[in-house]
Amino acid sequence: MKSLKKINWIISLLLIASINFVSCTKEGPAGLPGLDGKDGEDGINGLDGTATCAACHDNSQVNIALTRQWELSQHAMGKNYLRNQDNCAGCHTSQGFREIILTGADNTAAAIKNPNPPNCYTCHNIHTDYSVSDWSLATTAPITLRISGDVVDLGKGNLCGTCHQPQNPGPMPVVGGSDVTATNMYWGPHYGAQAVIVSGKGGYEVGSGYTNSAHVSMIENTCITCHLVDNSGENAGGHMMNLSYGNPENPSILTTACTSCHTNQETLNTLIANVKTEIKGLLAELNSKLKEKGIMDDGNHIIPGTYSADQAGAFVNHSLVHYDQSFGIHNYPYTKKLLENSITALN
Ligand code: HEC
Ligand code: HEC
Ligand code: HEC
Ligand code: HEC
Ligand code: HEC
Ligand code: HEC
Repeated sequence: MKSLKKINWIISLLLIASINFVSCTKEGPAGLPGLDGKDGEDGINGLDGTATCAACHDNSQVNIALTRQWELSQHAMGKNYLRNQDNCAGCHTSQGFREIILTGADNTAAAIKNPNPPNCYTCHNIHTDYSVSDWSLATTAPITLRISGDVVDLGKGNLCGTCHQPQNPGPMPVVGGSDVTATNMYWGPHYGAQAVIVSGKGGYEVGSGYTNSAHVSMIENTCITCHLVDNSGENAGGHMMNLSYGNPENPSILTTACTSCHTNQETLNTLIANVKTEIKGLLAELNSKLKEKGIMDDGNHIIPGTYSADQAGAFVNHSLVHYDQSFGIHNYPYTKKLLENSITALN
C-alpha cells in the first residue's frame, strides 16, 4: 500500500509537471538575437504526460490485483533469483532474461548485479513507449530447446517455455549412441522440464510408440491458456500462475480452463485421478529401477560415472517427468511412453 501511495504521488507530480511544461516547452522560446544577428535555436517539444499513463495507472484496480497475485507466487517468493551467475541468470533473474532474449545466447555475459526475480518488467514491455501496447509480451518467438535443438512453437506459451525448459545435460545421450560420462551429481536436465513434455519433443525417445495428447494440437497458447485463468483467491491461477494447491500429495486443481472441453466436471476429476495414478506408478517403478542399478542416489541425483546411452537416457527421462510436475496432465501419451520404454531399456 505504501509503495502504491508513493507511485500515485509520483504520478501526480509528473502530471502537474507535464501540464506546466506543455505550455512553456511545446515551442521553445525564441532565442535571443545573436551578436551576429542570427536567431537562437527552437526549444525541444515537451512530452504530453497526461495522454498514456492513465491507461494503466487508473482506478480500475487491475494493477493492484495482479500485483498482489504475483506477490503470492513462486516467481516472487521462491528466492532462487539469487542464482544470478552467468549460466543461471537467463532464467532466474529478470534482467538476465531480458538480456538473453535479445542476444539469443543461453548465458548472460556476466553475473547480474542487483538481481530481480521474474516480475512485470520481465514478461511485459512495461515503460517502453508508455502506452497500453507495453502490456505486449517480452517474447513469443518459437523456442530452440536447449536439450535437443528441436524448435518448438508453444504459441504465447513460448514466453514461459523459454525459461521452463530443461538444460542440456552435457552431453544429451543419443539413442544407439556412445556411452556418456556424468562427471558430478548435478549432471542432468535440471528443474522446469515443462516445455519438453508439453510439446512432446526432446525426451530420450528410446523404443517406439511415441504419440501426443490432444492437448498438444488443440491448445494453441499452451501454458497461458491453462495456467493464466482467473485467480482463485490466495490459492492458484491468474498471475500466481500455479494450478495445483493444498496438500502436495493430493492437491486440489483449478480446472477453469478445462471445462470448455471437458464439460462434465466429475468425468474430468476421474480422468485426472486415473492419469496421475498411472503416471506416478510408472515413475516410482523407474525410480526404483534406477536406484537398483546404481545409477541414481536417494536424493534422485545421478551417481557420477560412465553409463550406456540407455542408462543415462533413462535417468534423463525420469528427471523430465519428475520435474514436469503435472504427472501426465500436460501430455499423457508422451509421458507414459518415456517411462515405459525407459523401464524396458533398463531390463
Ligand atoms: C502498460 C501499462 C503502463 C503504462 C502505460 C505506464 N505504466 Fe507506470 N507502471 C506500470 C506497471 C505494471 C508498474 C509496476 C507496478 C508495480 O511495481 O507494482 C509501473 C510502475 C510505475 C511507477 C513506480 C516506479 C516503478 O518504475 O516501478 C511509476 C512512478 C510509474 N509507473 C509512472 C508512470 C508514468 C509517469 C507513466 C506515463 C508516462 C506510466 N507509468 C505509464 C504500468 C504502466
Ligand atoms: C524469466 C524466466 C521465467 C519465465 C518467463 C516464466 N517463469 Fe515460471 N518460474 C521461473 C522460475 C525461475 C521459477 C522458480 C522461482 C523460484 O523458485 O525462485 C518459476 C516458477 C513457476 C511456477 C511455480 C512452480 C512450483 O514449483 O510451484 C509456475 C506455476 C510457473 N513458474 C509458471 C509460469 C508460467 C505459466 C509462465 C508464463 C506465463 C512462466 N512461469 C514464465 C522462471 C520463469
Ligand atoms: C533454462 C532456464 C534455467 C536455467 C538456465 C537455470 N534454471 Fe534453475 N530453474 C528454472 C525453472 C523454470 C525453475 C522452476 C521449475 C519449477 O518449479 O517447475 C528452476 C528451479 C531451480 C531451483 C529450485 C528447485 C526447487 O526445488 O524448488 C534451483 C535451486 C535452481 N533452479 C538452481 C539453478 C542453478 C544453480 C542454475 C545455474 C547453474 C539454474 N538453476 C539455471 C530454470 C532454469
Ligand atoms: C511470468 C510472466 C509474467 C509476469 C511476471 C507478469 N505477467 Fe502480466 N501477463 C502475462 C501473460 C502471459 C499475460 C496474458 C497475455 C495474453 O493473453 O496475451 C499477461 C496479462 C497481463 C495483463 C492483461 C493485459 C492486457 O493485454 O490487457 C495485465 C494488466 C498484466 N498482465 C499485468 C501484470 C502486472 C501488473 C505484473 C507485475 C505485478 C505482471 N503482469 C507480471 C505474463 C506475465
Ligand atoms: C492442459 C492444460 C495445461 C497446459 C497446456 C499446461 N499446463 Fe502446466 N499444469 C496443468 C495442470 C492441471 C497442473 C497441475 C497438475 C497436478 O498437480 O496435478 C499443471 C502443473 C504445472 C506446474 C507445477 C505447479 C502447478 O501449477 O501445480 C508447472 C510449473 C506448470 N504446470 C507449468 C506449465 C508450463 C510452463 C506450461 C507450458 C510450457 C504448461 N504448464 C502447460 C495444466 C496445464
Ligand atoms: C481445447 C480443449 C481441451 C482443454 C482446454 C483441455 N483438454 Fe484435456 N483433453 C482434451 C481432449 C480432446 C482429450 C482427449 C479425449 C479425452 O480423453 O477426453 C483430452 C484428454 C485429457 C486427459 C486424458 C489424457 C490425455 O491427454 O489424453 C486428461 C487427464 C485431461 N485431458 C485433463 C485436462 C485438464 C486438467 C485440463 C485443464 C487444466 C484440460 N484437460 C484442458 C481437450 C482439452
